[in-house]
Amino acid sequence: MTKKRKILVTSALPYSNGPIHIGHIAGAYLPADIFVRYHRLKGDDVVFICGADEHGVPITIAARKRGITPQQLVDEYYVLNRDSFAGLGIKFDNFSRTSLPIHHATSQEFFLKMHRDGKLVSKESKQFYDEEHKMFLADRYVQGTCPHCGNTNARGDQCEKCGSWLDPLSLINPRSVISGTVPVVKSTTHWYLPMARFQKDLEEWLATKKDWKDNVMNYCGGWFKEGLGDRAITRDLEWGIPVPLPDSEGKVLYVWFDAPIGYISATKEWAEKIGEPERWKDYWKNPECELIHFIGKDNIVFHAIFFPAVLMAQDGYNLPSQIPANEFLNLEGRKLSTSRDYAVWVPDYLKSFAPDILRYTLAANLPENKDADFSWKTLQRCNNDELANILGNFINRTVTFLGKYFDGKVPENVKLSAEDEAVIDEMRLGLQETGDLIDHYKNRQAVGRAMDMARAANRYYDAMEPWKLRKEDMERCGAVMYTCARIIRALNTVFHPFIPFFADSLFDMMNFPGKLTDAEWDDAWKEEVAGITIKEPRILFSKLEDKDIAPELERLAKAVERMEKEEAAEKKAADEYAKSASEKAASVPSAPEGVITIEELGKVILKVGRILEAENVPKADKLLKLKVDLGGETRQILAGIALYYKPEEVVGKNVIVVCNLPFRKLRGFESQGMLLCACTDDKVTLLTTEKTDVAPGTPIQ
Ligand code: MF3
Ligand code: ZN
Repeated sequence: MTKKRKILVTSALPYSNGPIHIGHIAGAYLPADIFVRYHRLKGDDVVFICGADEHGVPITIAARKRGITPQQLVDEYYVLNRDSFAGLGIKFDNFSRTSLPIHHATSQEFFLKMHRDGKLVSKESKQFYDEEHKMFLADRYVQGTCPHCGNTNARGDQCEKCGSWLDPLSLINPRSVISGTVPVVKSTTHWYLPMARFQKDLEEWLATKKDWKDNVMNYCGGWFKEGLGDRAITRDLEWGIPVPLPDSEGKVLYVWFDAPIGYISATKEWAEKIGEPERWKDYWKNPECELIHFIGKDNIVFHAIFFPAVLMAQDGYNLPSQIPANEFLNLEGRKLSTSRDYAVWVPDYLKSFAPDILRYTLAANLPENKDADFSWKTLQRCNNDELANILGNFINRTVTFLGKYFDGKVPENVKLSAEDEAVIDEMRLGLQETGDLIDHYKNRQAVGRAMDMARAANRYYDAMEPWKLRKEDMERCGAVMYTCARIIRALNTVFHPFIPFFADSLFDMMNFPGKLTDAEWDDAWKEEVAGITIKEPRILFSKLEDKDIAPELERLAKAVERMEKEEAAEKKAADEYAKSASEKAASVPSAPEGVITIEELGKVILKVGRILEAENVPKADKLLKLKVDLGGETRQILAGIALYYKPEEVVGKNVIVVCNLPFRKLRGFESQGMLLCACTDDKVTLLTTEKTDVAPGTPIQ
């Protein structure tokens, strides 16, 4: 007998700011649930942990929008999401919450230990501040135009359009999400985790992970190559876990610092609930225990780099032994969009359809190694052609036949033929192979392998022709039907991880003795079934008609129409932005126009320059080519002032130079900066320094 494993399985804690959709399910929840159910049947010791991620800016913004408190919002979604998971049969041992005292205390302990051990650094930085609401605009509280792609709705931390991670201060036209006003820039002090200090240990640790998925390894490799920097782990916000240090009024822990610690506090809460408060240590501090984080790919860096560093800075915690990260799930060929309601929401789904159909369809189409697509047609096909026509059909024909000709009782004392033994052996092999695939996070293949067992069962039934045997050789007929019941017992187990509602219902209908979980996975094919009396047959899968899925397709079509309109409008705005930006770049620097914010001004590097040389540019009657002394360096600048100044007039003058514009070519000459001028339609005046004894290179503030 192989040694039993001890495994702590976690699924990413979903944010409590919206309902769960199929993308979430396919990423971090269904694969975990399949894995857990399989390992339970293997007899392994598994604890399955999740909970609601109840902090962070998206939550406070959503609450504010609805005019309720963050606590009210997370209370609402806690219930809704907990019920969505339960409705889909995603069966956590504990679905905790990060707003619980046990989680606050655990997170603060983690922070304090790192602080005490000198693992944190504090730094001052500049951040946007909303003067109307008297608050710092952390993360998504500020929006503006993405400096990379021109998306006018880029968020402070990331542009969803082009995917760039942004420094909020780089946003063009920043605005406060709360007041709509232009924020000011203020200094604030925060605690940082200097990730560079952990890089070597992290790299060495990850190098030992030979069987991790490519997406995880490649992602981490990219981060290491770039070099890990300091990560701020505190924020100026009201909602969150207070920083447990004196003089930290108004500061809370960053949501990505506390959320993964939620796995630990959720395990603690579980241990308390089962009345063994110390048991959590057996899963977190026992090196025999495997820690497996199921996540979507957008969470890789936090689970493979950031959280392991936090764990390393504590005492004796296990590091993850696997991080099966899935890619993304698309819907009918398009990216899911929660903000545009282009998704299949679990609470809606459950109102009209059975959970198993979705579980099966998603399992067969999981984005395990590349993005995958969900479509309603696929769901209909999976249900009708596979669940109903293959699996359901075999069970149905067996149960009906037994009911009709054997009084619903599985024959006893039968003599098995070579064919019977062969098909039972296929069940044995099928269980083993399906299990191995699940254990290696290959659920698409696993569910296919399980369905192949049902196919083999139908082939056996067809080949044995019990409907003929019944008239010719009742004893032989009995052996075949007994074998079919054995097959059903094996199918019952092998399908349990994927479609547990079906499995429970089947087990009950078949009246198999004991509980489904009494037989271990590997033994399901040899469970004795002789003599059991089957209950009233029931329909396990009914067909889905076109009309059943039509309303769903219609709803999505409407969403697409809406999205296309919005996308067109956004594209127009981005194009206009790009056009005006390129017009600005093409125009001569003597005519700058438009309003800028204080923050933008703050980013402009201005210095005093002294003009050393000046000459006209052939065939460009407006331009003067200048050599400007900027203290440490001399730059060539083309200025559109030739109609107003002769070259000899400007030599020796102190001017104001914009130093951090990109260099560009004008009439074949590189211009390495811009001079400030006072301009009207018919007059351009160079700005100079009021006193002439200012040294070239003096910064202007
Ligand atoms: N709430 C995050 C998300 O939905 C995931 C948090 S996972 C945890 O992307 F590790 F932080 F818990
Ligand atoms: Zn962008």
